[in-house]
Amino acid sequence: MNSLSTSAVSPPINKPSRAVGTNLPTLVFDSSEDLARHVAQLVAGIIRERAAHGQQAVLGLPTGSTPVGVYRELARMHREEGLNFSNVVAFVLNEFYGLARDQLQSHHRWMKEHLLDLVNIPASQVHVPDGSVPLARVEEHCREFEAAIEQAGGIDVLLLGIGTNGHIGSNEPFPGTTGRTRLCTLDPVTRRALASDFYGEWNVPTQAITMGLGTIFDARKVLLLALGERKAGIIREVAEGPVSPRVPASYLQEHADATVLVDAAAGSQLTSSQTPWAAGKVEWSDALIKRALLWL
Ligand code: PGA
Repeated sequence: MNSLSTSAVSPPINKPSRAVGTNLPTLVFDSSEDLARHVAQLVAGIIRERAAHGQQAVLGLPTGSTPVGVYRELARMHREEGLNFSNVVAFVLNEFYGLARDQLQSHHRWMKEHLLDLVNIPASQVHVPDGSVPLARVEEHCREFEAAIEQAGGIDVLLLGIGTNGHIGSNEPFPGTTGRTRLCTLDPVTRRALASDFYGEWNVPTQAITMGLGTIFDARKVLLLALGERKAGIIREVAEGPVSPRVPASYLQEHADATVLVDAAAGSQLTSSQTPWAAGKVEWSDALIKRALLWL
């Protein structure tokens, strides 16, 4: 059966609202589905635009629960709309150190299941840090990873998730700001968050190979994604707080083209959601007047 004939027409994406009073452009979507489809369309636009000029599209891709919807939508676009990934070069953000590529929790395996096996990116154009290289070869491996990014012409668009402690990739609080791909130690907060994936915190690897903040900064476009109330506090810090080594993602405030994209829950602590009157001009409704009075 022709898969095109079975595809349902997607409903339009509800437009996000742009949070005011932030230090980083911040888009708040009604739902995680709207966010996922918006990001997938943006990535697809870059892939198509590059292909139209006979060029490769270089993507930086994270693992984790946050980008699952984006990858699902990209895979759907490939299946149902014929989105062609043959010009894509993909660089995966990080990998646990000490895990083999096919091990259950490895990012390599995760990425295969959630995207790579579902679209047509040629295997030779997929780069995932190898968590199984011997310690003596890690530095060389990291240099090769960086060289591959450079050879591809740099990353066009890099998607990022964020940890509740503000990490991006495995750049935990107090990272070097110029760091390139390297082996680094995972924060206890991160290892605790991963405990269920590894059947206990004590099984979670202590180290990962990750793109550094320098690598992340060199990407031409960065999209930081966050979903759910659990991320609301750190999103407020990243978008509205000062640039601080305590919150690695806050350095994105200094990037020329970085945007924060959140669902309503992850954006719920932004000033423009909580106390919009403090963020600038508002349209006063009875409900809002009541909220402001209670707040006072
Ligand atoms: P999550 O992880 O997408 O599973 O919330 C993000 C991260 O820790 O970087």
